[in-house]
Amino acid sequence: MATADIPAALALWRVTEGMGLGESDRPERLAAFLARNPGLSAVGLRADGSLAGAVLCGDDGRRGYLHHLAVARECRRQGLARALIAHCVAGLAARGIEKCNLFLLSDNAEGERFWKRAGWAVRSDLKVVQKNLTGCAKVVPGSC
Ligand SMILES: CC(C)(COP(=O)(O)OP(=O)(O)OC[C@H]1O[C@@H](n2cnc3c(N)ncnc32)[C@H](O)[C@@H]1OP(=O)(O)O)[C@@H](O)C(=O)NCCC(=O)NCCS
Repeated sequence: MATADIPAALALWRVTEGMGLGESDRPERLAAFLARNPGLSAVGLRADGSLAGAVLCGDDGRRGYLHHLAVARECRRQGLARALIAHCVAGLAARGIEKCNLFLLSDNAEGERFWKRAGWAVRSDLKVVQKNLTGCAKVVPGSC
């Protein structure tokens, strides 16, 4: 995924169920994420070059993270998500990262089925603990 792909990726994420978009998904923050994690995030394209799927991937030097895996409805069940994940996992492994985490909205049962089928384990012993560093009191549910 390149910076130029951000508008199309955002357009896909906005219409995809199960996505938790928030203030950290402003284009400049997404560009910063791509710059910090070169080559790890990925897009899938249709034959006409338009964006069919996208995923953000990065690491903090210790763990890998995936965000916002989405495939356009008409392009699903053709192995695109599997290919996007394979790209990310290979990139993380090449950096010596041994585990990868992702955030899943707790009401995304379909997404949970997908991840389990793909061999990922749901950690029921963990909770996400978050603080808003901007001084605003409100933490927006569904945005991570
Ligand atoms: C989940 C999603 C990314 C899957 O994309 P996809 O391109 O259709 O997935 P693939 O074709 O690569 O499928 C890979 C495997 O997962 C299985 N799979 C796909 N969708 C599934 C689902 N909803 N439930 C269970 N298994 C599913 C496929 O059968 C395939 O398994 P197989 O290779 O053993 O046959 C897509 O449905 C989507 O964008 N969903 C909405 C967003 C979302 O929930 N994202 C995940 C949470 S962040």
